Amino acid sequence: MVRPFPGRFPGTRLRRIRQVPWLRRLVAESALSIDDLIWPVFVCDGADRRDPIDSMPDVARLSIDLMLEQVAQAVELGIPAVAVFPVTDPQLKTPDGVEAINPENLVCRAVRAIKRERLDVGVICDVALDPYTSHGQDGLVDEVGTVLNDPTIEVLCRQALVQVEAGCDVIAPSDMMDGRIGAIRQALDAAGHSDTLLLSYAAKYASAFYGPFREAVGSSFGLCSDKKTYQMDPANAREALREVALDLAEGADMVMVKPGMPYLDVVSQVKQSFGVPTFAYQVSGEYAMLRFAADQAAIDGEKILLESLLAFKRAGADGILTYFAIEVARLLQ
Ligand code: PBG
Repeated sequence: MVRPFPGRFPGTRLRRIRQVPWLRRLVAESALSIDDLIWPVFVCDGADRRDPIDSMPDVARLSIDLMLEQVAQAVELGIPAVAVFPVTDPQLKTPDGVEAINPENLVCRAVRAIKRERLDVGVICDVALDPYTSHGQDGLVDEVGTVLNDPTIEVLCRQALVQVEAGCDVIAPSDMMDGRIGAIRQALDAAGHSDTLLLSYAAKYASAFYGPFREAVGSSFGLCSDKKTYQMDPANAREALREVALDLAEGADMVMVKPGMPYLDVVSQVKQSFGVPTFAYQVSGEYAMLRFAADQAAIDGEKILLESLLAFKRAGADGILTYFAIEVARLLQ
């Protein structure tokens, strides 16, 4: 054989380490495990109720009794944590979202129900007003619709408190108000909850990928404007690092980037810059894209699902919120 570079071509053969499965396993730089999964679940009023969500096939809004069965299943599979999202009765939605601070609201009842089961599972709750406001914004608005930062934070602190008192382990502020992490940390500490964790949606983008979620919880119903004055511009990554730096300085224990797959560059930069527990949310629109394409047999759903979640790990995510959590845990078993 004639060699283009006589003597030593190619000096390095990277294919050598890809020859057989045991070797590929041995040199793998990242791995996906059940321990990396957080399962977001939609909970609704009623009993024995399973409301399908058109834009999210196989995901349903579950009444507390059915949700408990599913959570027990998730725990059995080894999923470490669940994130509970309430589908609030439209009658209870008001401009000030006051239902958010009702200790008997749906999310608090759901959290108490999970905690009553004494399962080894972390319960994560969003802090933001959008499930409760008639206008669908994450905060309080003035007469012209401007989302008000500081007055919103006061309500968020009270919302965090009722959720913690219901038994929530991890408070996840997803509202993107400036300064809310510090304020919530102080409020929790002052009330004797210094062990409650804060997982900040630190870099949360104003994204069209949340569409199906808003359908699921009914928050787009009244949403007459977008969330661009508080959620981040998809054009910006350096700004995400400033958001994360501030939230860490204010007391966040863990940070999140959201959406996930289109923002893995941000996940990577956050992890490399700060080295703190970093989470990413494979959001509802990502779920819809993968699910619909797989259901049409346009892609191999299982393979793409595992590949997409491995990509989160490679980017540096310590954990991933995904509506596929139960399905993936079964595949990984
Ligand atoms: C509420 C919230 C949203 C999501 C998580 N928490 C929607 C939004 O900000 O409008 C989106 C999750 C998803 O799309 O899966 N603030």
